[in-house]
Amino acid sequence: MIKLGVNIDHVATVRQARKAAEPDPVQAAAVAELAGADTITVHLREDRRHINERDVRILRKTIRTKLNLEMSIALGIVKIACAVKPDQATLVPEKRKELTTEGGLDVVGSERKIKRVVKRLKSAGITVSLFIDPDTKQIEAASRARAEFIELHTGCYANAKKEKDKQKQLSLLAEAAFFAHTLGLRVNAGHGLNYCNTQALIEKVPHLEELNIGHSIVSRAVIVGLGRAVREMKGLINKKNRDKQ
Ligand code: PXP
Repeated sequence: MIKLGVNIDHVATVRQARKAAEPDPVQAAAVAELAGADTITVHLREDRRHINERDVRILRKTIRTKLNLEMSIALGIVKIACAVKPDQATLVPEKRKELTTEGGLDVVGSERKIKRVVKRLKSAGITVSLFIDPDTKQIEAASRARAEFIELHTGCYANAKKEKDKQKQLSLLAEAAFFAHTLGLRVNAGHGLNYCNTQALIEKVPHLEELNIGHSIVSRAVIVGLGRAVREMKGLINKKNRDKQ
């Protein structure tokens, strides 16, 4: 059974738009777990644009499933991870100006540094996953770095417009998953997955253990939840109108 990791970063994005207390990602995590999420994923970015340290520390105490912390390999973040001890750390590249994670980690280019970070996280009891493009050289480097998991970057598949390009990306992902599995790596996937493109991925790509999905789920929550939120406020106002008459 392929599992679902729900990325709740964008709940915190809405909170930070007002620098307010709500919506609280801690509450969102509990709702997601009750609805069947197998993992709660958050990205503690160096610029703290959405999730902050308070969130990660409380989530560590409240999550009943599994906490997956997406993180860069910056020393300060690695220290926090070793102290908080999420169940899993997913190492991602991070650029200040990007809107979201762009592309996979260059494990080949920073192999020694990544190896050191993997070792440090693993010795703190944290399972390590590397977010990489479906690229043979990156997969081999992830294996040499002794990561337990890779998370295949599905962004190019999700962004492909033409059917033949989608099929090409699916083939690349399928070959990458197969190759990683032969090297003993376990395989997750994520980025840009939504209500239209997830089933085809599951059909074509072997060995997937978990999908990490954020933007599409939080977006859908806003749309399917908005009617109820408006009805509740309208009800409060109507009650006061009646009381005043
Ligand atoms: N996996 C990784 C490594 C990510 O960085 C992200 C985005 O934070 C996701 C999965 C989820 O992507 P999306 O929000 O597009 O579903």
